[in-house]
Amino acid sequence: MRAVSLFLGLAAVVAGTSLPSEGIEARHSSGYWYENIEHNGISPFIENGKNWTVFRNVKTHFGAKGDGVTDDWAAIQAAFDYANATDTRNASVWGTTGAPAVVYIPAGTYRLSKPLQSYIDTVVIGDPTNRPVLQASSDFSDPFLYLGWDPRLDPTINFYIALKNVVLDSTKVAPTHNITLLNWAVSQAVQLTNVLFNMPNGGVAHTGLSMPQGGSPLIINDVVFQGGSVGIRMNEQQYHFKGITFKNQDIGLKLDKLFEGTGQGLHFESCKVGIETTNNNTGFFALIDSTAKNVGILWNAAASPTAQGSIVLENVQVDSKTGSTVTAGGKNVLKGSVKPGQSWIWGNVYGSSGQRAQGKFFPASRSAALVDITGAYHVATPPTFQEYSVNQVINVKSVRGLPVAGDGVTDDTKNLQRIINSAAGRSVLYFPHGTYLVSDTLVIPPGSRIHGEVWSEISATGSKFKNANNPVPMVQVGYPGQVGVAQFVDMLFTVADILPGCKLVEVNMAGLKAGDVGFFNSHFRLGGARGSKVQTNCDDPATCKAARVCAHLTALSSSYWENSWCWSADHDLDDDNGANPSTAGGFLVESIRSTWMLGIGSEHNSLYQINIHKAQNVFLGFQQSETPYWQGNNSGLLTPLPWTGSLLDSDPDFSWCAADDAQCRMAIFQYIHDSSNVNVYGGGYWVFFNGINRDGCSAECQQNAVIYTDNKKLFSYGVSTHNVRTMVLESTGGKDVAEVTDTANSGGWQSHGGVMAAYLGQSGY
Ligand SMILES: *[C@@H]1O[C@H](CO)[C@@H](O)[C@H](O)[C@H]1NC(C)=O
Ligand SMILES: *[C@@H]1O[C@H](CO)[C@@H](O)[C@H](O)[C@H]1NC(C)=O
Ligand SMILES: *[C@@H]1O[C@H](CO)[C@@H](O)[C@H](O)[C@H]1NC(C)=O
Ligand SMILES: *[C@@H]1O[C@H](CO)[C@@H](O)[C@H](O)[C@H]1NC(C)=O
Ligand SMILES: *[C@@H]1O[C@H](CO)[C@@H](O)[C@H](O)[C@H]1NC(C)=O
Ligand SMILES: *[C@@H]1O[C@H](CO)[C@@H](O)[C@H](O)[C@H]1NC(C)=O
Repeated sequence: MRAVSLFLGLAAVVAGTSLPSEGIEARHSSGYWYENIEHNGISPFIENGKNWTVFRNVKTHFGAKGDGVTDDWAAIQAAFDYANATDTRNASVWGTTGAPAVVYIPAGTYRLSKPLQSYIDTVVIGDPTNRPVLQASSDFSDPFLYLGWDPRLDPTINFYIALKNVVLDSTKVAPTHNITLLNWAVSQAVQLTNVLFNMPNGGVAHTGLSMPQGGSPLIINDVVFQGGSVGIRMNEQQYHFKGITFKNQDIGLKLDKLFEGTGQGLHFESCKVGIETTNNNTGFFALIDSTAKNVGILWNAAASPTAQGSIVLENVQVDSKTGSTVTAGGKNVLKGSVKPGQSWIWGNVYGSSGQRAQGKFFPASRSAALVDITGAYHVATPPTFQEYSVNQVINVKSVRGLPVAGDGVTDDTKNLQRIINSAAGRSVLYFPHGTYLVSDTLVIPPGSRIHGEVWSEISATGSKFKNANNPVPMVQVGYPGQVGVAQFVDMLFTVADILPGCKLVEVNMAGLKAGDVGFFNSHFRLGGARGSKVQTNCDDPATCKAARVCAHLTALSSSYWENSWCWSADHDLDDDNGANPSTAGGFLVESIRSTWMLGIGSEHNSLYQINIHKAQNVFLGFQQSETPYWQGNNSGLLTPLPWTGSLLDSDPDFSWCAADDAQCRMAIFQYIHDSSNVNVYGGGYWVFFNGINRDGCSAECQQNAVIYTDNKKLFSYGVSTHNVRTMVLESTGGKDVAEVTDTANSGGWQSHGGVMAAYLGQSGY
């Protein structure tokens, strides 16, 4: 391979930037810091992993020209494929997490004659200060320009893949030539952001993005579709779409299949149709904080008389040139805007009793703590830190006198903490890919900005985190009462050992605005990959209490979460071990200030996936969850086992279940209690198995999905289940008052699915 000799020359590591000694202001940079900084990431758990090449610059390392003329396909594909002198990255010897790669694309126009094939554990980053253009050549003949999914793996386990800061371009391809810019058949822990899909106006056979093979993803955020025929063609389980512009298409968002989804901040401009669901294959979709300008029909729907095809609109502004806001079954059923303070609903609505709405306004309310002056929920975009120059960024592995290894073996706690403390308020911290082992709490002070690389890992180890009765944070974001900035980008929080007393992240700090304290494309993993005893020693959940909770947002915190997945592993990504860890909980939200969560996955945790307890002002944009596969009938371990004896006040105690009711004693997907001003837009709650042998269950595998107890101003839209009997169990003062069953709300997931438009029983209306 042409690139190899170039690489060997680059491998030498230049150690030794000093910490800057004075405060620095963000200045105009002369190039993106990430392109220019020293790259010394490694792959800790493979043979000779210290020599693993993480960062690949397609121009300087692989000879791509980016001149708009040369065919750069071979050079860029070589950057994806390169492992070492003899092997390519798709070889099974690396496992699927052992071959991390960043394919970095500097500014330029890269002509491509063939599709690029990406793999799992690959992040493609373009220069955000001048996004590179990946342009299909005029004679391009394949159906896709870019294959984002790794064909070695089922789409539903295509994790850890990202594409950001690029332009995908088909403007040189004939409008009548069938081409799709991106195949995105991927799942959790993927990121698609800051991408322009540039297609010719009137490109009648051009599509921006599709996924014929399916997948199970969380979010697409902050992208633009320009021209072509269809923007997004959806064939998925669930999605949160945020901050997306669709301009000049026949159809912006075509939902061929979607069990459940939410669109937040979608802007349709000069499209014939904004959203298309006429084939009646969408369970629930909500459109909020969105606009239409000069659109024929904003939403063209099937006029479904059942729960299937549920629709919610809230704060949707349409201009006078827009013909119809909602057309159902060919009939205009809504014209004009849906203002803040109201929702427009088509579907089954539950309050003190159930009712059928086929295009009806309901009152809605949002706490002032969550919205901007227009009434829209605050949003933030993932930071690139592009406003910083390279000498304002510290590579944590290159600080003179404070060695940090990130090798999964060395205890990095002390030196990392000193570097974090001195960088606060001054520098961005860059964590090259690797595993940073910590044996004690890392405290993150105000003024911290942390950027990982292909999900750099912070991993807990040691006796400090072993006591289930005294959970200790691994990463503690500030102290209660502190206000400031603490941002995390492309990080992964995990454990190296079985640690029943480990809270992976505790947030105490409050941001002044949404995103100041923010977690972006940062995920949690308990087992399922090399580098942890949870991977190798967890055949039995009774003896493997992997961790206490992924994230705990305490009372005075205010934080923003976008694209975050707490995964207690259900299978092994790298080898062939059993995977039955027991993590007590996913996300515990107790903040009374303001919390925004968009595109959240929480899977296989033992007591609950998301627990909102004594909280106020919570926006939950979309939640996707699954129960542990080992729970249910045929399991010897009924909740709250194996955590009995170390339950917290906030934990569900399952007192509503008979002692031997195995299908009742399963993890609650969403538990909201003693809280107020909580707005939930969509949740997909899926169950597939019963018991440690993962016996299939042909019908209903779990008793309860969601439990709401003693809340005020709780607005919950789009509860959606698969194989669960009771979708919502509502209780108050310790007494069950209402129950919503899946049989009364059949829809969404095709077999044994339940879907409802809204649950307003504790909204106060
Ligand atoms: C690792 O890379 C260094 C620097 O290029 C080289 O000298 C060394 O031989 C490599 N080690 C192995 C085991 O390949
Ligand atoms: C490339 O990786 C394979 C698999 O680890 C290893 O067997 C081989 O020795 C490596 N080759 C070089 C030149 O490092
Ligand atoms: C790996 O990639 C090479 C080309 O880069 C290809 O020839 C080979 O079939 C691929 N192997 C697998 C297992 O996909
Ligand atoms: C392009 O081809 C695909 C696959 O055959 C087909 O599903 C799709 O409808 C075509 N798109 C257009 C716009 O003709
Ligand atoms: C939509 O599908 C559901 C079943 O999935 C069915 O009950 C309903 O009648 C369909 N609606 C229309 C308009 O076809
Ligand atoms: C689970 O066990 C209960 C009680 O024995 C039984 O009624 C139910 O049919 C079982 N469900 C499945 C899916 O096996």
